[in-house]
Amino acid sequence: MADSHAATPTLSKTDQLAAKNQEALLGGGQARIDAQHKKGKLTARERLDLLLDEGSFEEIGKFVMHRSKDFGLDKEYYLGDGVVTGYGTVHGRLVYVFSQDFTVFGGSLSETHAEKIVKIMDLAMKNGAPVIGLNDSGGARIQEGVVSLGGYADIFYKNTLASGVVPQLSAVMGPCAGGAVYSPAITDFILMVENTSYMFVTGPNVVKTVTHENVTSEELGGASTHSTKSGVTHFTAANEVVCIQQLKQLLSYMPQNCEETAPAVPYTLGQDESRPVLDTLIPDNANQPYDMREVIEGLIDAGSFMEVHQNFAENIVVGFARLAGRSIGIVGNQPAVLAGVLDINASTKAARFVRFCDSFNIPLLVLEDVPGFLPGTDQEWRGIITNGAKLLYAFCEATVPRITVITRKAYGGAYDVMNSKHIGADLNYAWPTAEIAVMGAKGAAEIIFKREIAQAADPEAKLQEKVDDYQQKFATPYRAAHRGFVDEVILPSQTRQKLIRAFKMLENKVDTLPRKKHGNIPL
Ligand code: HXC
Repeated sequence: MADSHAATPTLSKTDQLAAKNQEALLGGGQARIDAQHKKGKLTARERLDLLLDEGSFEEIGKFVMHRSKDFGLDKEYYLGDGVVTGYGTVHGRLVYVFSQDFTVFGGSLSETHAEKIVKIMDLAMKNGAPVIGLNDSGGARIQEGVVSLGGYADIFYKNTLASGVVPQLSAVMGPCAGGAVYSPAITDFILMVENTSYMFVTGPNVVKTVTHENVTSEELGGASTHSTKSGVTHFTAANEVVCIQQLKQLLSYMPQNCEETAPAVPYTLGQDESRPVLDTLIPDNANQPYDMREVIEGLIDAGSFMEVHQNFAENIVVGFARLAGRSIGIVGNQPAVLAGVLDINASTKAARFVRFCDSFNIPLLVLEDVPGFLPGTDQEWRGIITNGAKLLYAFCEATVPRITVITRKAYGGAYDVMNSKHIGADLNYAWPTAEIAVMGAKGAAEIIFKREIAQAADPEAKLQEKVDDYQQKFATPYRAAHRGFVDEVILPSQTRQKLIRAFKMLENKVDTLPRKKHGNIPL
């Protein structure tokens, strides 16, 4: 405990300032800092040191103290009140930051703690730069009651107003429980640290009382739970250092705000940007899987892919990459998992990513190999209709440059949904291996030639004949190309070159939506 708000007459005024600064740096005191380290966690300031360019941090509100009097708080004050706020740079670019200090009342959120966060969010919105929150908090400051809850609501409100204006990133580096989870949830990306962070609306004790389930904090809301089961977190890291590196990398793909485009990294085009390896990647057998990540790696600048939601809804791959130095967002069906079928989780995962890219002027590349939507009662009863519509809606309303490459299957409604020409894609390419039809040849033949097959002397042979016929006519890119739904059928090896030129051509694209208050995406 510290009681520095009283003046110290023996010190000169500058010494007093130095003493206060020193005291603020210690947060809740050395013993609690040691306890934090013992748990394998860094302190709020150590995290900021890792995140921000050296010497760039300017603190705001260092001497703020709470105004509470109840439950002994009239005698317990810490300068800064449990959160370090301010601004600095990451790779030379301005960011606003808040970093909760678990050594002060467990990082719990008081009225003044919330005011500090809101203050930097206001600055971020007015000045057009991202907000990064490093969360490590026991939740609402219990001694404060409703004013703390009000503080949370003030933050949620600002998160919502800032959404789509400036990027908001949340690293969860400790507890994040109760309603507190909703601030990170509204932000654009969540990153969690394995074994030391967790997020849940109600903790294991309440769960046991209400549902009689026995579950640990880690099982209920740890990093791996949220990266695989719920999809709440977009990234996980083995430790805090890796988490902060991920934050920095993530930022590098984004513009500062919705009025800007992401910074390009210097790139000199080679004499030959062809990628022959792609010409042999698609298996001859259309039912054989391949890894869409290999296609991605073959198209983008070497080593530039940062996958989002890597372990969630793995039947779709989304992430950021660079093409000739420019930032793009990639959405690719993943034939290696569930044949790349679209289901509820894949649809919502991709929809959210598409909307982020569109909010912040990041062009979209769609790599399509999709057999359709996943059939079954589970999907239907849980609302594949509404959830699949999210992805459709997200593509339809996106005004950024949008290019699709159909690598193999583009069947049924999924053909329309996956950034088809009809819903506003700027350029649609297909590889010679593309199959664009209402459904696979066998299913199609069984339906439309049902009677003929049944009446045939050899039904098996008749079915095969019809399948071959359908395959010949429709399991190609050419019907779509004849109509102009596909702009060009291109060689896989030439695709990178085509994409570089096409995105360059679309660089100054301007497109607007009809005037409205806001759309009503099917949530
Ligand atoms: C005030 C708190 C606090 C809180 C922790 N502390 N949480 N002080 N308000 N919410 C203090 C502790 O008293 C302790 O003080 C110090 O922080 C560290 O806490 P420990 O319990 O010693 O740490 P640890 O064992 O690591 O456990 C961390 C914890 C636990 C799991 C977070 O402290 C805990 O369960 N806290 C309560 C969580 C909670 O129920 N919060 C309210 C949730 S509801 P000393 O002086 O000993 O260092 C909520 C609603 C938000 O947040 C709604 C928004 C709409």
